[in-house]
Amino acid sequence: MSLVIAVANQKGGSGKTTIALNLAGAYCDDDPSLRVLVIDAGSQNSSMRATSAGNRAISVHCRRPGAAGSNLGREIKRMAENYDLIVVDCPPSAHDMNTEVAIAASDFVLVSMDASALNAWSTVGMLQLVRRKVGSDATACGVVFNKVNTKTTGYGEDRTAMEEDNPYPILRSTIAQREI
Ligand SMILES: Nc1ncnc2c1ncn2[C@@H]1O[C@H](COP(=O)(O)OP(=O)(O)OP(=O)(O)O)[C@@H](O)[C@H]1O
Ligand SMILES: [Mg+2]
Repeated sequence: MSLVIAVANQKGGSGKTTIALNLAGAYCDDDPSLRVLVIDAGSQNSSMRATSAGNRAISVHCRRPGAAGSNLGREIKRMAENYDLIVVDCPPSAHDMNTEVAIAASDFVLVSMDASALNAWSTVGMLQLVRRKVGSDATACGVVFNKVNTKTTGYGEDRTAMEEDNPYPILRSTIAQREI
């Protein structure tokens, strides 16, 4: 049986694909014997493109389920037999069947957001979906700030706002706006 992590948010460009691939790669680096799979549940095939474009070979396998919805659920179940870790790169929509299925099938939902009002609204909507699907268990989900400058007032305000009225932790680790 594998651990399943879904990387999700309805806001496009919040870093889901980047984080899914880097997370999978980091686990592989950490323990090369780990069997890690990235499932590209998005509509743009970006995880698939990113892995094929990379220079450095990591033992992450990437696949895309044939069709939306229940097929993804079946795919995750089937793949859980053969992998230790499955990272699902979700599409940028809370209304997409694949997002709902991935959240319901995962052990942990990682919601990526950047510091902006638009992102905060999307994230609140996403967390409501997670709550409906998996309940309020604080270990079921976490929010990670991506592409942030933690010295700005905007980040501080967004972080405080996210911490209110939300059962899930805002991760202490943040990811800066990287140049490369
Ligand atoms: N920490 C970061 N620093 C700099 N650039 C980043 C960072 N995270 C992501 N990006 C860039 O932001 C863009 C959007 O990232 P990404 O494609 O991972 O987002 P996404 O949430 O998967 O998008 P979509 O919703 O379209 O699937 C990409 O060009 C990516 O390289
Ligand atoms: Mg993406």
